[in-house]
Amino acid sequence: MSQKVKDNLKKETEKLIKDSGITPGLAVVIVGDDPASRVYVNSKKKACAEIGYYSEEHALPASTTEEELLNLVEKLNNDDKIHGILVQLPLPKHINEETIINAINPKKDVDAFHPVNVGKIMIGNFDFLPCTPAGVMELLDDANIELNGKNAVVIGRSNIVGKPQSMLLLHKNATVTICHSRTQNLKEITKTADILVVAVGRAEMIDGDYIKEGAVVIDVGMNRLENKKLVGDVHFESCEKKASYITPVPGGVGPMTIATLMKNTFTAAKNTIK
Ligand code: GUN
Repeated sequence: MSQKVKDNLKKETEKLIKDSGITPGLAVVIVGDDPASRVYVNSKKKACAEIGYYSEEHALPASTTEEELLNLVEKLNNDDKIHGILVQLPLPKHINEETIINAINPKKDVDAFHPVNVGKIMIGNFDFLPCTPAGVMELLDDANIELNGKNAVVIGRSNIVGKPQSMLLLHKNATVTICHSRTQNLKEITKTADILVVAVGRAEMIDGDYIKEGAVVIDVGMNRLENKKLVGDVHFESCEKKASYITPVPGGVGPMTIATLMKNTFTAAKNTIK
C-alpha cells in the first residue's frame, strides 16, 4: 500500500522536475540520540532517495540550545532547495517543542504541526495532511471500510495522532469518541466501536476483550518489549480472532505515515510554483 503511494509520487516527481525544474527537498532535523527517532529518521531519508527527492539530515547533539535550533529552522525557512522541514520529536527537555514548531514556516510544515495547519485541519480545508492520521485514513479507504455514520473510537488525545485522527474521521461523517488515560469504563466504550484506532503508547494494552465482533482495529502503537520484539498497543492474536480488519505492527500504519510525509513534501514543492 505505501509502495503504491511512493511509486505514484516517483512518477509525479519526474514530471515536476521536467516541467518546472523543481526537485522536492526535505530537511530532517534530529536532536540527540533517541534510538526510535533514529530509526524513523533513517526511514524518512530512505523514502526520499527512493522517490527522487533532495534530502538533508541535520543531526545535532543533545546539548544543542533552543536558540541554535531556532537559528537552523530560520536558515531552512529561507533555503529555496528545502520545501519541507521536519523536526523529529521528542526534543530534549530543555527545548520547548511548541516554540520550535511555531518557528517553522507553515508552508514548509510537512508534519502539519504548526497552529496554522492544525487550524486548517480542524476546519477541513487543508494542504498538509497530518501524517499518521492520514496514513490511517488511506488504509481504511484502500480496504473499502465504510465510515459514514459508523462509531469510531480513538484511544489517545495527542496532538500528533489522537486529536487530528478524530477530526479526519469526523470529516468522513463517523460518530467519533475520544478516549484517554482518565476515561472511565474504557472497555464499555471501545466495545461500541465499529472502528477502533489505538494510539496510547502502551504495549499490547488492548486485547480481544476490548473489541466487538467484526470491529476494524487500527494499531498506531510501536513499542519495544524487553526481549527486543516490536509490538503495537493492540494484542494482535486475541483481537485478530474477532476483528474484520486489523493492522499489524510492524508494517501496518508506520509505512503509511512516511508515505504521507512524502506526499506533503511533494505538495509543498508544487505550491511554490503558484
Ligand atoms: N515523532 C513521532 N512521530 C513523529 C512525527 O510524525 N513527526 C515528527 N516530527 N516527530 C515524530
